[in-house]
Amino acid sequence: MSENQWWQTEENDSVATSPELWRPIADAIGGFDLDPAAGCEPTPIADERYTEADDGLTSRWFGKVWLNPPFSDKTPWYKRLVNQYNNGDVDRAVALATVDPSAAWFHDWFSTADVICFHQERNLYLANGSSPTFSTQIGVWNPTDDLIPVLERMGTLVKPHTTIKQTKL
Ligand SMILES: C[S@@+](CC[C@H](N)C(=O)[O-])C[C@H]1O[C@@H](n2cnc3c(N)ncnc32)[C@H](O)[C@@H]1O
Repeated sequence: MSENQWWQTEENDSVATSPELWRPIADAIGGFDLDPAAGCEPTPIADERYTEADDGLTSRWFGKVWLNPPFSDKTPWYKRLVNQYNNGDVDRAVALATVDPSAAWFHDWFSTADVICFHQERNLYLANGSSPTFSTQIGVWNPTDDLIPVLERMGTLVKPHTTIKQTKL
């Protein structure tokens, strides 16, 4: 029998976000319209939720999106988020990810966020008291003014692409 903890196995696909993390963010943007990777959370995070039975990866995305994808297969979820944001179907988005600057999904998709918050806490998930060994980053596309101070209270904010553009000038 495996002695791995939840964050080291595919069980982390069904670990919900703590309300202490998502609720202040939701309040600052007037609530979420869609959670496309949902089902295990005890309290709905968005008005509309897609579960595995719906296949949220191929269903229609819209409005203000909350995304904490199945961690075992993150790349297609971040890719879909960025594509749907760029084509205008998604107006605003907040996504969680482990902090992994060497990952292709980070460079290709996640780092297109307007701001990224590196959260200072690790215990951000509802996982039977187990504390993860990884850090969490929160990517936001099209943040509201009200959301910025909320994120600043959670951790350190960076604007990935502003920095790169200024360097290239
Ligand atoms: C990391 S949990 C996040 C749950 C919730 N969105 C939250 O933030 O607390 C990922 C969720 O995605 C669900 N899921 C897995 N594959 C999915 C799919 N193809 N479509 C929709 N949901 C899926 C899992 O069952 C799980 O409930």
